[in-house]
Amino acid sequence: MSKTRVILVTSCKGGVGKSTVTANLGLALARSGHRTLLVDCDFGNRCLDLILGTEDEMLYDISDVCEGRVEMNEAAVTDRRSSNLLAVAAPYLAPEQHDFSVPDKEVFCSKLTAAGESMQLDYILIDTPGALGAPLELAAAAADSALIVSTHHPTALRAADGTASALSALGVTDCSMVINSFDPDSVLLGYRAGVIEMIDRAVLGIVGVIPYDPVFAIGGEHGELVYELDCRNVTAAFDNTAARIRGETVPLFTGWKGIKRKKLLKR
Ligand SMILES: Nc1ncnc2c1ncn2[C@@H]1O[C@H](COP(=O)(O)OP(=O)(O)O)[C@@H](O)[C@H]1O
Ligand SMILES: [Mg+2]
Repeated sequence: MSKTRVILVTSCKGGVGKSTVTANLGLALARSGHRTLLVDCDFGNRCLDLILGTEDEMLYDISDVCEGRVEMNEAAVTDRRSSNLLAVAAPYLAPEQHDFSVPDKEVFCSKLTAAGESMQLDYILIDTPGALGAPLELAAAAADSALIVSTHHPTALRAADGTASALSALGVTDCSMVINSFDPDSVLLGYRAGVIEMIDRAVLGIVGVIPYDPVFAIGGEHGELVYELDCRNVTAAFDNTAARIRGETVPLFTGWKGIKRKKLLKR
């Protein structure tokens, strides 16, 4: 088996869809036959379990693994939608708790490397908080590359630039962007940036564009992911993004219905 690819999913901005992208991209990779482990490193605000709908199954977390209480395969919950998708929670922080501790970087990296081999993983996706700090530094120590999640709002695109430079300082230089909550109408009306303009502005390659879809948003609040929901363009977008991450040449809007491709690409 080839080496496990460790990809961190981040942005120095909250609410842009990091956890949503981690979960749904993980499922898309898993459904394409690639064993994928999701690791929630949002230590202050665990939420991947809610997005996956596995909050009652996740008895152990990544700190339990790093502190030697359980092995990764015991802490990882297999997803009901694909046996190729596994996930490990971040520690639960009660509302009155404000402090959290982050595992030792060397231990974390060695646990991920060992899990990659013993669990025969193709991908490990690490979800991170929307800020610089110890959890991002931990994820960066283990990651080969980063997906920076942004929307096509100017503030988010600027934050994506800042995130890339922060990651570079942490030694992660292989960065690309996923544009989430993309609204085709706002581009056609001239309110928001199209794809070429975003590439120009952020100086980062775009590996995927995920449309905004209210059905997808509501599904995410109930532990449902793409393929279970009636949101065809979002599903196609995650399939395309997964294919591009695997190194396949797939045009960004393949499979989307009811959009004007050429106009969306213009600046
Ligand atoms: N493409 C999308 N379309 C509609 N809603 C989305 C989309 N992506 C994310 N959301 C919603 O945006 C909110 C924030 O997403 P989340 O993944 O928690 O962000 P982050 O992890 O960056 O803080 C959630 O309510 C989620 O359901
Ligand atoms: Mg999150």
